[in-house]
Amino acid sequence: MASGTEQLPEDLNSYLKKALQNISETLNGADVRDAAVFLRRCMQHGPDLYRLLEQLYGERDDFPGSAEAILQTAAEAFLRRPARLKQLDREREESPRWYQHHTMIGGVCYVDLFAGTLQGIKEKIPYFQELGLTYLHLMPIFRTPDGPDDGGYAVSSYREINPALGHMDDLCELAIALQAVGINLVLDFVFNHTANDHEWALKARAGDPGYQDCYFIFEDRAQPDAYEKTLREIFPDEHPGAFTFYPDIDKWVWTTFHTYQWDLNYRNPDVFRRMLAEMLSLANIGIDVLRLDAVPFIWKKLGTSCENLPEAHTIIRAFNALVRIAAPALIFKSEAIVHPDDVRSYFGQGEWAGKECEISYNPLLMVQLWEALATRHTHLLTYAMQHRFDVIPENCAWVNYIRSHDDIGWGFADEDAAAMQIDGFGHRQYLNRFYTGQEPGSFAIGYPFQFNPRTLDMRISGTAASLAGLEQAIKNNNPHAIDLAIRRILLITGITMSMGGMPLIYLGDEIGRLNDYTYLENPDTADDSRWVHRAPADWEQVARRREAGTVEARIFEGFTRLIGLRKQHPAFGSNSATQVVDTGNRHVYVYLKTLGDDQVLCIGNFTADPQRVPVDRLPLPGTDRRLVDLITGKTISSDTEIELSPYELMYLSMPQQ
Ligand code: GLC
Repeated sequence: MASGTEQLPEDLNSYLKKALQNISETLNGADVRDAAVFLRRCMQHGPDLYRLLEQLYGERDDFPGSAEAILQTAAEAFLRRPARLKQLDREREESPRWYQHHTMIGGVCYVDLFAGTLQGIKEKIPYFQELGLTYLHLMPIFRTPDGPDDGGYAVSSYREINPALGHMDDLCELAIALQAVGINLVLDFVFNHTANDHEWALKARAGDPGYQDCYFIFEDRAQPDAYEKTLREIFPDEHPGAFTFYPDIDKWVWTTFHTYQWDLNYRNPDVFRRMLAEMLSLANIGIDVLRLDAVPFIWKKLGTSCENLPEAHTIIRAFNALVRIAAPALIFKSEAIVHPDDVRSYFGQGEWAGKECEISYNPLLMVQLWEALATRHTHLLTYAMQHRFDVIPENCAWVNYIRSHDDIGWGFADEDAAAMQIDGFGHRQYLNRFYTGQEPGSFAIGYPFQFNPRTLDMRISGTAASLAGLEQAIKNNNPHAIDLAIRRILLITGITMSMGGMPLIYLGDEIGRLNDYTYLENPDTADDSRWVHRAPADWEQVARRREAGTVEARIFEGFTRLIGLRKQHPAFGSNSATQVVDTGNRHVYVYLKTLGDDQVLCIGNFTADPQRVPVDRLPLPGTDRRLVDLITGKTISSDTEIELSPYELMYLSMPQQ
């Protein structure tokens, strides 16, 4: 294919020309058609890539050599990409928005807790199919240090599987098996930090300056003190501030999260290039979505919060451009649990809209749903969603969820709260009391996470079922309370299924998994209350989904009914319109979903009492008011008002005009 580079257009910038000439030898190893594909993509995305790398590294002496080396790394990865994935690349280049489809249903679990090993996960494929999953996120599976490892988020090697879970071959086999049944595989890319025993960290600790420059390592407290003036504490329970003293090197290391997680220094283009190589090697296993862990933290600048800095976006955009060139079947999911404006910014903004992370957790919807359950009021939820839901680039999608492996932090916008005459700080304190069961009338059993006595800030741990009242209801042997708890779970789940975007189920929630207290007996987990909602799957409990009338069966049937309806309605996918409606009744949440002829009006009651909504406050087209609730199959009889039972959710289908 050497001839490929001879056809480069005259006006192509010199960086690309040079870079492509340099890699022509690498591409010589590729078949002619493949090489042409690679070159086409370089022409398409190379100019963007160059601009981005120039923004990051243009001032350094090693530029543009560093940028050429980066493209070379992409070419090498492309060369190693298996044929089946190159085929998938071609398909997804043709229909790139596969993740927006209304048939997408996500599930997430820990490999060890759910099925023991990667092989065990493969054996559970029929269960995933029974649920209708098309997206499976396996929590971190790579080698980690002995002892505490932050649930796998301290990665010692991106190329080795944690031996307790299996081997790389098992992962490759699993990726193929999942692809065969239409389930996309999602893995974490923990790229803000490595474990302190990662090869690079070990070399840094041994004194290699090249590797010391991969991290933020300081001789004394001068710089750390200067930075800490403007930093937020992320895990204050574990260590104050953001730095850890390492006596073996007699130096301070930047550790935003745990003391054993070393933040990477992306000011060094070598770090960018090395992490690109790790990322593309994951892509080449057949990963469909990479969950970019802790994105807000990847760039640091003195005098700032070191969160959500413009360069963090530039880095992700550059990674994305490289993925479009070397492995375009892959997309990015952003994990930014920050202010809603910042969360949204990781879809890309301005000329970069849609060119950063294609999908993102929607922490705002999650916290607003729990907020509305606690307060029994929906005005903040309604206001926030009216302003912040349908405002993302058209090729992007929210990932809607009610629980994850992490804590719940009350990340609504103070501005939204103020607009609703709510004091943000006081409201968070109330919600914390409510979900730790300290508020009279609370149904929740949840626990504090990272209480900060200086700011009084804290977050909440607990499973969806325990937070929704099921644990307390079962303890009190109260069938009515059990019924209400199940209704709460299905109400908020049903909203994540239908609001638009992709629903993501934290596996265990579909059978009402309660809090698990065994983590307290293990010294590696006892200090981290998030383990209360990271229980091992109890397959006997899962089996009860088939015993009619059990709690498990009632919740599971509810989930599968909602999933089935989602799969029938294109309006529930990501490319539909969402109209969130204020009906005047502040206990119900209402939105209309529309895609072409498919229209569904969703109404949820956030109280334990019946609620009525006047029909003339609803956005119903035409005068024909015959409505059918898709969830119960019942026809709505009144043409003046709709009555909802406690915590009822309706998906109202409207007659075609
Ligand atoms: C993400 C993970 C969380 C972890 C942190 C540090 O927020 O979801 O579990 O503690 O990153 O990697």
